[in-house]
Amino acid sequence: MQGIQIIGMGKALPARRVENEAFTQMVETSDEWIRSRTGIQSRYFCKEERQMDLCAEAARKALANAGVCPEEIGLCVVATITPDYHTPSSACMVQKLIGLPEDIPAFDINAACSGFVYGLEVVSCMLGSDALKRPYALLIGAEKLSRIMNLQDRSTCVLFGDGAAAAVIRPSDAHRFFCRLGSQGNAEALNAPGAGYPELYIHMDGRKVFQFAVHAMENGIRLLAKETGVSPDEVDQFICHQANERIIRHVQKKLKLPVERFFMNLDQYGNTSGASIPIAMAELMEKGQLKPGTKAFCLGFGGGLTWGAAYLEF
Ligand code: COA
Repeated sequence: MQGIQIIGMGKALPARRVENEAFTQMVETSDEWIRSRTGIQSRYFCKEERQMDLCAEAARKALANAGVCPEEIGLCVVATITPDYHTPSSACMVQKLIGLPEDIPAFDINAACSGFVYGLEVVSCMLGSDALKRPYALLIGAEKLSRIMNLQDRSTCVLFGDGAAAAVIRPSDAHRFFCRLGSQGNAEALNAPGAGYPELYIHMDGRKVFQFAVHAMENGIRLLAKETGVSPDEVDQFICHQANERIIRHVQKKLKLPVERFFMNLDQYGNTSGASIPIAMAELMEKGQLKPGTKAFCLGFGGGLTWGAAYLEF
């Protein structure tokens, strides 16, 4: 079976960094509570930046990193729940902003924090299609969650952040790829209402999401190991959705896996939903930790409720 290879990545963050301390002016909370319950120390919020600007910056950096021109891109997909427009999609706006060809498909995926993993599967299927006339795909995870956050709700406003990261992907026989995705309609645990509702903020039952998250991650690792034949001991990097340090630690300890193989950067960025896995991946790549031969399990979970587990070789 044909696999895929990520050949370049880039990330983009808004200019404004917000420390935990800033929330003590808005709600009854403390730096200590936020750090100890989540691991988060700061996050970035957009001021002037549009979500599409973050997408375009990340995409330009990924193309430069991969040594690929916009004219060589045959597919553009953006994983997001906070686009600037319901239509046109963020992918269409990126197409215009960075000058992608006009005879290629460009569309968004809404699978919340699992969006990038969903995107990997969509890209892997479409790269095998005769319909694509150009060799590479651009997959972006991007969010401007600050636009749907209620700054009066302490149970959610301290958790999320804005950001984006992009990957240039090509089909490859030498790099195995395997993915499993799931979903269960559940608006009680987590929702962000659409246009027409009186308040367009994120609502969340943190404990329900926590339970779902640890279950989804643990199951994802077991499932990937079983289906790929790659034992968790052989996996170099577990690239997890960066929602909460306690969720990641819980799974790492339960499966008795080495702590250093679970990369974390949520202390700096908070939960950036669809952008969190690609930002983590981009940083691992910058640090030289996704070298040729690296085996990674990617684990996403979030609104939907959705989950995604993918095996990637670098
Ligand atoms: N500052 C201070 N206190 C806060 C607070 C804040 N920012 N947010 C909530 N609290 C309070 C609660 O009101 C509650 O008070 P009470 O006991 O008087 O009712 C208390 O802290 C404990 O709340 P609880 O929900 O039990 O805390 P927790 O240990 O479960 O941590 C989360 C809360 C949200 C950090 C945790 O449940 C979590 O991370 N869940 C997953 C969320 C997630 O990842 N969502 C994104 C999905 S991709």
